[in-house]
Amino acid sequence: MPTTRRDFLSRSSLAAAALGTAAILSENGVAAEARADTAAESVKRLKLPAKPVILTKVGPAKALDAAYQMLTDGVDTLDAALYICVDCENDPNDTSVGLGGMPNEEGVMELDASCMHGPTRGAGAVGAVRNIKNVSLLARMVMDRTGHVMLVGEGAERFAVAQGLKREDLLAENARKAWLLWKENHSNADWWGPGMGSPGWKDPFDGKTPESNLHGRIPRHPGPEWTPVIRERSQRLTEMAADLGIPLEQRWNAVKEVLWPTTGTVHVSAVDTKGQMSSSTSTSGMAWKLPGRLGDSPIIGAGCFTDQDVGSAGATGSGEENVKIAGAVTIVELMRQGLSPREAGLEALRRLVRIYNGDMKKVRYLDMIYFVLRKDGAYAGCSLWSTGPDGKPRSFMVHDGTQRTEKCEYLYEGYYTAWPPF
Ligand code: GLY
Repeated sequence: MPTTRRDFLSRSSLAAAALGTAAILSENGVAAEARADTAAESVKRLKLPAKPVILTKVGPAKALDAAYQMLTDGVDTLDAALYICVDCENDPNDTSVGLGGMPNEEGVMELDASCMHGPTRGAGAVGAVRNIKNVSLLARMVMDRTGHVMLVGEGAERFAVAQGLKREDLLAENARKAWLLWKENHSNADWWGPGMGSPGWKDPFDGKTPESNLHGRIPRHPGPEWTPVIRERSQRLTEMAADLGIPLEQRWNAVKEVLWPTTGTVHVSAVDTKGQMSSSTSTSGMAWKLPGRLGDSPIIGAGCFTDQDVGSAGATGSGEENVKIAGAVTIVELMRQGLSPREAGLEALRRLVRIYNGDMKKVRYLDMIYFVLRKDGAYAGCSLWSTGPDGKPRSFMVHDGTQRTEKCEYLYEGYYTAWPPF
């Protein structure tokens, strides 16, 4: 069939459009390649650290010293990171990790952990593990001794026993009593029902002032600065705690666990003078969670991530939200693109806020601290809020030859409102 002028024109314009699209695609491809090249160049320019560097939460000071010595002696970075996690897991007074952590809503301890080894680019994780204290070591065993990356629940527990770890009762007496207090106190204000992301969610404070606020500060012990709501609640809980037989010296801690349930975790990121990096995260998860719940800690890329070419990051705080933005891998990728540890950590926090379009009626329930370490030893601790509910500045510990506690960079002044609220 002869080609008409109209066919010719229409084919030509299609061809031109196709060519145009191809040109745009290729331009984008070139631009993307150029960006990747620049990012790769900035990563290549990173110098090796003059001294090893380790980051972790405030607390395990002795273990941090010992782990630093291990790095100085040439021990592998993952061994050093795990040394600190195991120390926290074995400590019955650490209420956010291992033995002595806070249980789920049924009063049962379920632990989560993960690790990454930079030099071999290996990863291991375990979730919702009962009766096994050193879940950080178990995560490493999954990495070293299976072809998998993650085991959960009963299977993870059986694997632990097969590997020689002991089953033990992890519920410490003070955690059991705090759980009893929570159980007696709570009504329908728990983790059941729609979450904040759901259209069915109702603000429990109905837009009114919650028990904590965005710009205020509360003291560590009940005092005149307390809002009437907190004063009334803490008084009532303290009386209930006395009725439950909670000894006087443990009463205030139990009350705090009910007012601001633990969301804590231990994360460690380490780099040695060869630039070799590793990370490890361990937690008992959110206090009073639903059985079987996993947060961010066992999720590689959310609660823990190391890329041997760039850096390492980890998190403690609202696990559900951190999973939504894959916090740790997001931070490492931002550093690959040239952002400093501080800028990368703060940008990840902005993405958390973006989940709720900056609606502070929701953001006020979130809590987060990011630990960020670059391959050259540059580091930052970044938190959503300037303080914890106890009024202490959000901080982290670092060792680079000298051990010290540093304040986090933060997005907002104030502290978070406990969730679920009572
Ligand atoms: N970030 C600890 C947890 O959500 O379980």
